[in-house]
Amino acid sequence: MSPKVFFSVSMSLDGFIAPASTDELMGQRWMELQGWAFRQRFFRENLKLGTGGEEGPDNAIMAETFRRTGASVMGKRMFDAGERMWPEDPPFHTPVFVVTHQEREPWVRPGGTTFHFVNDGIESALARARDAAGDRDVRIAGGGATIVEYLNAGLVEEFTIALAPVLFGSGIRLFESVDAGRLAVAPVRAEPTGEVTHLTFAVADR
Ligand SMILES: NC(=O)c1ccc[n+]([C@@H]2O[C@H](COP(=O)([O-])OP(=O)(O)OC[C@H]3O[C@@H](n4cnc5c(N)ncnc54)[C@H](OP(=O)(O)O)[C@@H]3O)[C@@H](O)[C@H]2O)c1
Repeated sequence: MSPKVFFSVSMSLDGFIAPASTDELMGQRWMELQGWAFRQRFFRENLKLGTGGEEGPDNAIMAETFRRTGASVMGKRMFDAGERMWPEDPPFHTPVFVVTHQEREPWVRPGGTTFHFVNDGIESALARARDAAGDRDVRIAGGGATIVEYLNAGLVEEFTIALAPVLFGSGIRLFESVDAGRLAVAPVRAEPTGEVTHLTFAVADR
């Protein structure tokens, strides 16, 4: 199979992927959204959070998402939040392309993650990520604004949402300003695990 461009995020029942301010990350609502991930062995080991953790279907899905990803693309707000919170050895272990207006030299981290700062748009970032990923997939890691840019440009082929049993009421919406007239989505898979429901869709032009 040829490599795909995909995203995979946790979303609240009412469509939010984060609180409005990155200062609220790690707060109560964030943990209600992402708690399922923090309980998984793969996630805990990859983020150096400690030993132990669940080894059921959520863990397997996380490990598979990591395995298939040869490079990631992310927006600057996600990067800024992560720069404050990731361990010295960030959890990507591949090249990561940050779409941003800010010029910055590549940031090489231990463990195989290098952040490249791309100032000439989402298509350029994706082309570089495809080259870096080889025969593996490219993950549009987030956040919402960057995912929607890629969706609206017709560049996302598949996505998975871990639908978490929490209501946010406000925050960063996943599909804010999505071009609904352009995109058609078709269900591929639904996997309820008891923690969240993993919903996978294929994306095509209408
Ligand atoms: N729930 C989940 O699974 C999940 C997953 C990932 C992220 N998140 C959350 O999502 C939040 C961030 O999302 P967000 O929507 O606020 O922001 P974002 O998509 O991470 O970043 C947006 C920023 O990226 C830069 N950018 C995007 N497109 C660009 C372009 N074409 N050219 C130049 N620069 C461009 C701009 O920053 P500059 O102008 O400053 O360069 C823009 O303000 C964080 O809180 C993060 O934790 C949640």
